[in-house]
Amino acid sequence: MNEVDWDSLTFSLTKTDWMYIAKCNLGDAWVPGKIIPYGNFEIDPAAGVLNYGQGIFEGMKAHRTVNDRVVIFRPEENAKRFQSGADRLGMPPVPESIFLDAVEQVVSANKKWIPPSGKGALYIRPLLLGTGPIMGVAPAPEYTFIVFVTPVGPYFKGGLSCIKLIITDEYHRAAPGGSGGVKAIGNYAPGMMPSKNAKKNGFAEVIYLDAEYHKYIEEVGAANFFCIKDDIIYTPELTGTILPGITRDSIIQLAKYFGFQVIIEKVSAEFALDADEAFCCGTAAVISPIGSITHGQKTKVFSSGNIGPVTQKLYNSISGIHSELVEDPFGWLHEVDLNLNLQY
Ligand code: PLP
Ligand code: COI
Repeated sequence: MNEVDWDSLTFSLTKTDWMYIAKCNLGDAWVPGKIIPYGNFEIDPAAGVLNYGQGIFEGMKAHRTVNDRVVIFRPEENAKRFQSGADRLGMPPVPESIFLDAVEQVVSANKKWIPPSGKGALYIRPLLLGTGPIMGVAPAPEYTFIVFVTPVGPYFKGGLSCIKLIITDEYHRAAPGGSGGVKAIGNYAPGMMPSKNAKKNGFAEVIYLDAEYHKYIEEVGAANFFCIKDDIIYTPELTGTILPGITRDSIIQLAKYFGFQVIIEKVSAEFALDADEAFCCGTAAVISPIGSITHGQKTKVFSSGNIGPVTQKLYNSISGIHSELVEDPFGWLHEVDLNLNLQY
């Protein structure tokens, strides 16, 4: 019997059976790790990650398709982003082959946790942590690479419903020269309080503006931003403070493939509030249509229920590719072999 009710999955943790672990000393090369039972592991109180936040993470989804294949969306891109994050935080980058092999092994070992097609996905969470002890602010002497998985449903409450967002003038997510362009673990805790306050006031999440001019939209919590005006698609350019989302890049490519004009430049809050449609996107968020954006005294309502036609077209396309309901014109799906010969 299954321990998960596939019909009521949310974006939350369900502990699964197996995880992957590999260790590497600073200055050594990574060697493949192993699959072990999911659970706690020991860590030195002086670990670099605990004291100085030396850690990065990734997020991917394994989907069971209508053809009963299990596929991961563009995991090679996550492997590359994991490497640039490691570089930025002074950690030894995990080779792409070890990253992909680890991800496939964990998905395969936990195959019973992959939701049926259309009911959700198996969220894959790789971590790279400075686990060796260090007192001075310097790279830890030892690193741990972990991959765990959990079945998930929609990121925002209500699934594909239009979300209400608020622009914050008070808080920023990232500043030029900082770590906003990589998935550093330390980027996320500072967003929790602003996000909690927004939720208390009935908003699903906050929109961050740039920290230099306080004028241009950067991100929606942990998702990238798009808006549409007169059938032209706009998304903020990557200036180092915005996470280069893989969903964002895929939407840009798909939109161009459909013949849309896509303008990648600074998007001011003022411009966005004048747009016809808006949405945010990410692995967890997929494409989440934005119903309204509040900025100070002003609220722009994009929709009170109906999803805009461009947003709907892009959603159908990306989620259709995930589930193999529509053609994958760019060859983005990476099939997982569920019968790997794993040694536990
Ligand atoms: N922005 C931030 C800050 C994120 O954490 C994420 C999630 O990974 C994204 C955007 C979306 O990126 P992706 O589409 O690669 O999941
Ligand atoms: C993702 O979309 O994978 C994310 O990492 C977002 C969030 C859960 C941190």
